[in-house]
Amino acid sequence: MILLLTGATGTIGRALLRRLVAADIPVRCLVRDPRRLGSERVRVQIALGDLADPFSFRYALRGVETVVHLAAAIRDQPAGSIEELAGIATWRLVRAAERAGVQRFVFFSALGASTRNPTRLLRAKATAERAVESSSLVHTIFAPSIVYSSTDPFLRLLRRLSLLPVVPLSGSGRAVFQPIWAEDVADCVMTALPFAPHGAAAQGARFELAGPETLTYRTIVQTVMRAHGRRRPLVAVPNSVVRRVLRAVELLMGPAAFATWDEAELLQVSMISPRGSADAQRLGVAPKTMRAVLEAA
Ligand SMILES: NC(=O)c1ccc[n+]([C@@H]2O[C@H](COP(=O)([O-])OP(=O)(O)OC[C@H]3O[C@@H](n4cnc5c(N)ncnc54)[C@H](OP(=O)(O)O)[C@@H]3O)[C@@H](O)[C@H]2O)c1
Repeated sequence: MILLLTGATGTIGRALLRRLVAADIPVRCLVRDPRRLGSERVRVQIALGDLADPFSFRYALRGVETVVHLAAAIRDQPAGSIEELAGIATWRLVRAAERAGVQRFVFFSALGASTRNPTRLLRAKATAERAVESSSLVHTIFAPSIVYSSTDPFLRLLRRLSLLPVVPLSGSGRAVFQPIWAEDVADCVMTALPFAPHGAAAQGARFELAGPETLTYRTIVQTVMRAHGRRRPLVAVPNSVVRRVLRAVELLMGPAAFATWDEAELLQVSMISPRGSADAQRLGVAPKTMRAVLEAA
């Protein structure tokens, strides 16, 4: 039995891969660059691949019973757009998984995924979710709010910004989120895998993963700064200005841009579940508050 994990080098993937390896589950990782797996790369099978290259899915899926599909692109890449990498690639992976006889497909969507969402990623996620739901595969969908870890690129950027005398806030900062720690998310996935305690109940289920608090983007920035002992005034920068500046940064820096407009726009759109953390609790996980996690880090 092999589990194929995409996105193993990301914020959720790293936390999940650690648990899968510790549980002695045979894992194959579809990765662009195995070095990014760090020390885990010697404990897993590696399938070199890319979301933009559907031919790479064929070897990756050989002998696989369960797929956990985390990989997605939050910004355009030279190999493909957000729509291709987060939307169409999922559709292609689902078709390839059907042909390969995969028995469970676990997919990561996002709260707010809808074809009417103003952001490109959440529209692409809606397309991808539809591909999973309409497939013949037994599937489980997770739709989280913002997922964070103390070392992820978003929190690293906020920490760097907090060195400035005044911290810029993209837009009004009034959109609301229920941030959930990547380690809590990984615990939820582990318990919903086919052989795990909630594996049977997870068949065909859609879990909305939310942390215990509803925070505005402004409060999230303040929480991160306080956890690092910094207090700075926040200045709201109008979206029209943020868009123009970040588009120029992308033109000048290309893939090395520290932030893109598509990423900033995601922070303008609320991602909350009316059920709060009830779905995580149904899976036996009690998500921690962001403050508790960051102050303990
Ligand atoms: N983090 C959040 O706040 C959040 C919220 C809602 C939903 N989600 C969803 O949850 C999933 C995991 O999120 P995350 O935060 O862990 O993601 P992440 O940290 O942004 O990592 C993205 C992962 O996808 C891989 N990837 C990107 N482009 C690829 C390509 N062209 N081919 C193959 N792999 C590629 C990356 O590999 P490289 O190492 O090669 O770059 C990385 O492992 C995603 O589907 C995301 O949309 C996340």
